[in-house]
Amino acid sequence: MGNVTVIGGQWGDEGKGKIVDWLASRADMVVRFQGGHNAGHTLVVGGEVYKLSLLPSGIVRGTPSIIGNGVVLDPWAFRDEVQRISAQGIAVTPDVLRLAETCPLILPIHRDLDALREDASGAGKIGTTRRGIGPAYEDKVGRRAIRVCDLAHLGELDPLLDRLCAHHDHLRAGFGEPPVDRARLKADLSEIADFVLPFARPVWKDLDEARAEGRRILFEGAQGVLLDVDHGTYPFVTSSNTVAGTTGSGSGTGPGAAGFVLGIVKAYTTRVGSGPFPTELHDEIGERIGERGREFGTVTGRRRRCGWFDSVLVRQAVAVSGITGVALTKLDVLDGLDTIRICTGYRIDGQAFDHLPPHAADQARVEPVYEDIEGWSESTAGARSWAELPAQAIKYIRRVEELIRCPVALVSTSPERDDTILVRDPFAG
Ligand code: IMP
Repeated sequence: MGNVTVIGGQWGDEGKGKIVDWLASRADMVVRFQGGHNAGHTLVVGGEVYKLSLLPSGIVRGTPSIIGNGVVLDPWAFRDEVQRISAQGIAVTPDVLRLAETCPLILPIHRDLDALREDASGAGKIGTTRRGIGPAYEDKVGRRAIRVCDLAHLGELDPLLDRLCAHHDHLRAGFGEPPVDRARLKADLSEIADFVLPFARPVWKDLDEARAEGRRILFEGAQGVLLDVDHGTYPFVTSSNTVAGTTGSGSGTGPGAAGFVLGIVKAYTTRVGSGPFPTELHDEIGERIGERGREFGTVTGRRRRCGWFDSVLVRQAVAVSGITGVALTKLDVLDGLDTIRICTGYRIDGQAFDHLPPHAADQARVEPVYEDIEGWSESTAGARSWAELPAQAIKYIRRVEELIRCPVALVSTSPERDDTILVRDPFAG
C-alpha cells in the first residue's frame, strides 16, 4: 500500500472534499502542502457539514493531520477554524494536528496589500480571495517573512520587522496608506503565539518516521493545476505550485513520496475569479449547470463561471502534474441534456492548437473545437456501479478518458460518500 496525492485537475472546486474524506478515513496521516485559507473543502460526515479552509480533511475523522511548510498560515484564521471545528465536537488538539515550524505567516498587512492591489488593478484584476495569499508568498521568497517559529522568539522580532516594514512601508505609501503599525503587529503576534505554538513541530521528522514505518500518507492539494503559478493560466493563478510535485518541497518529504496521483476532475468546467476560460458558457445551459451543480464558492460565496468539459486543459494538467488516475465528479449535473459538448482542440486565427498557448493575448483569442455527444435522459445520481449508468454516460466517460490520456479511477455520482463507482483503489497503487 502506497501513498496517495489528491490534486485538483482544473481550476479548483472539483469536489475534492468528498474524495479526500473517503481516502482520509483509510490513511494514517493527512498532509496539506501548499495554499492557505483560500481553499474551501466541504465534508459531510454522519450528516454533519464541516467547512474547512486551512485544516487538513483528516482532522474530522481524528486522523493525524499535518500542515506542511508549503502552506501560508494566517494564525488568526487558524485559531478561528480550530475553534469552529472544535465547537462541532471534533478534537483538534496538538496530538492530532501538527504544524510546520517553518510555515510563513499571513499577516494583516498581507490582507491589506491583496485588497489594495486588486482594487487598483482595473481590468488586470485577478479576482483573488483577498486573504493575503499572494503577498505572503512574495515575502517568503523575498526572505522577509515572519514564520511560525518566530512566535517562540518574540524578543528577537525587531530585525525581521525592519526588513519586512522597509518593504511594506514603501508599498503602502504608494497606495496612500500609513506605515505598518509595528507596535500593534507585535502585540497581535504575541497575543496569538500561545495559541499557535503548541501545534508547532518539526513535521518533516514525523513524516520521515511515518514513511519508515510504512504508514499510508495522504497528501491533500488545494486549488487546481490550472491555478498553478508555473503551469496555470498566469497571471490569473494562485501564488503556489498546486501540481503534485510540490508534495515534497511543501512538507519535507522526498520526490518519491507522492505515490498515486489522483486528479479530481469535474464532468464539466468551472472557474472563480478572472482569466481565460475557452469553453465558458454564457447561455441558459451555463445557468442550468451552475444551478444544478450549486456552483457558488465555499470561501467567498462568488458565483462560479461554468462551461463544457475541456479535454485540452485536463490533458495538459495530467501531463504537467503526472496524474496517475482521475476521479470524475458531478456527472449527475449533466443528466437530462440532449447534447453534451467536449472541447477536443483549439483554433487561434484559423490555426489548430492541441494545448493552451502561454500568452494571455493568444488565450483570449482561443476558439474551442467541440465534439458533440448525445446526452442521456436517465438519472446518474447515486449510481454505485457501471451497471447503474446509462450507456450514453459510459460512452461520455470513455471518451473523456481517451481524450485526456488518463484512466478514470473513480466516478462520483452525488455528495454522499457511498455514491461512488470505484474502478481502481488509489491506495493499492
Ligand atoms: P488567491 O489564491 O486568493 O491569490 O486567488 C488567486 C486565484 O485563485 C483567484 O482566481 C481565486 O478565485 C483562485 N482560487 C484560490 N483558491 C481557490 C480555491 O480553493 N478554489 C478555486 N479557486 C481558487
